Amino acid sequence: MRALQVFQLGDPVDVLQVASVPSPEPGPSQVRIRVAAAALNFADDLVCRGRYQVKPALPFTPGMEVAGTVVAAGPAARAREGQRVMALAALPHGGFAEEALAEDVTTYPIPDSLSDVEAAALLVTYQTAHVALHRRGALREGEWLLVHAGAGGVGSAAIQLGKAAGARVIATAGGPAKTKRCTELGADVVVDHRREDFAPVVARETGGRGADLIFDPVGGDTFERSRKCIAFEGRLLVIGFASGKIPEAPANHVLLKNYSIVGVHFSRYASFNAGVLDAATADLIRMHAEGLVRPSIDGLLELEEIPQALSRLAGGGTTGKLVAQIGSTE
Ligand SMILES: NC(=O)c1ccc[n+]([C@@H]2O[C@H](COP(=O)([O-])OP(=O)(O)OC[C@H]3O[C@@H](n4cnc5c(N)ncnc54)[C@H](OP(=O)(O)O)[C@@H]3O)[C@@H](O)[C@H]2O)c1
Repeated sequence: MRALQVFQLGDPVDVLQVASVPSPEPGPSQVRIRVAAAALNFADDLVCRGRYQVKPALPFTPGMEVAGTVVAAGPAARAREGQRVMALAALPHGGFAEEALAEDVTTYPIPDSLSDVEAAALLVTYQTAHVALHRRGALREGEWLLVHAGAGGVGSAAIQLGKAAGARVIATAGGPAKTKRCTELGADVVVDHRREDFAPVVARETGGRGADLIFDPVGGDTFERSRKCIAFEGRLLVIGFASGKIPEAPANHVLLKNYSIVGVHFSRYASFNAGVLDAATADLIRMHAEGLVRPSIDGLLELEEIPQALSRLAGGGTTGKLVAQIGSTE
């Protein structure tokens, strides 16, 4: 079968190559999936460079989320051959290939209402946003939610889920195309961070209160400025560091302003409490059926186009989700 493989670590454009490799054998609790669609994530770029927390042995195939058909299942897996599923792919046999492996615990049946492309885009970013806003952030109806990089992968999911929960959403994004996208996604207030500082806008829009919940996938200065406009008893969700800068917060500031800094690592739930991801996924499928969430798909790709697309994504040059169509179950 054909797979994109990393033979040495580096820029995806330089190190990802299409190779012909044997079909991977599922372990006892794994399934092998014939991939119909695989969505791209910021972390795919990091893993190719060896800068992600998961560091598979070389050579490996990246790609974290797929939709497709189960073609083989280990004896302890619940999923059955022929079943249409979406799954978090298990590296080193990731989703940028005609076949991928996944742990059964992060493999979910797909309802007919969900296309392959949408299903592939409904896991990493939406599970992250769901776990962040609800389990970790305890978002309440009517609260002010500030979402950074709102036109991006996790950000676009957070805007939709925030609105679905009855929050008032302020989004930040860089440039007119991205701010327009945030408005289309349902944000009530949108700030182009290239043109103005979001902190005074948040203070003004919330009547001086500040944001109750802040969703930050950017880090660096964005995190710094977020601490200036967080509400009393606010929660600042640490989602990621797309800026490349890991920020620090002085504990006295956290104490004086009475706020919380809350870490979010959605995939750790697969090891510690998989029921949380099961419940989030069931809720996402329900919300999709009710029209409350729609993955923002901004590009369909061939397998060979993935390296260039990952480079654009990691450079901040994309909106929403990019999805590679590799086969089809439909
Ligand atoms: N904690 C978790 O469990 C979890 C799960 C999934 C993803 N993440 C993390 O969330 C972050 C976003 O992931 P994503 O897939 O949704 O990506 P993305 O939002 O589609 O892309 C990143 C966005 O960050 C903004 N950005 C600000 N400074 C940047 C810089 N120096 N370089 C590139 N982008 C910059 C850009 O938006 P603007 O131009 O609008 O500023 C860019 O579009 C990543 O750090 C990822 O690792 C964490």
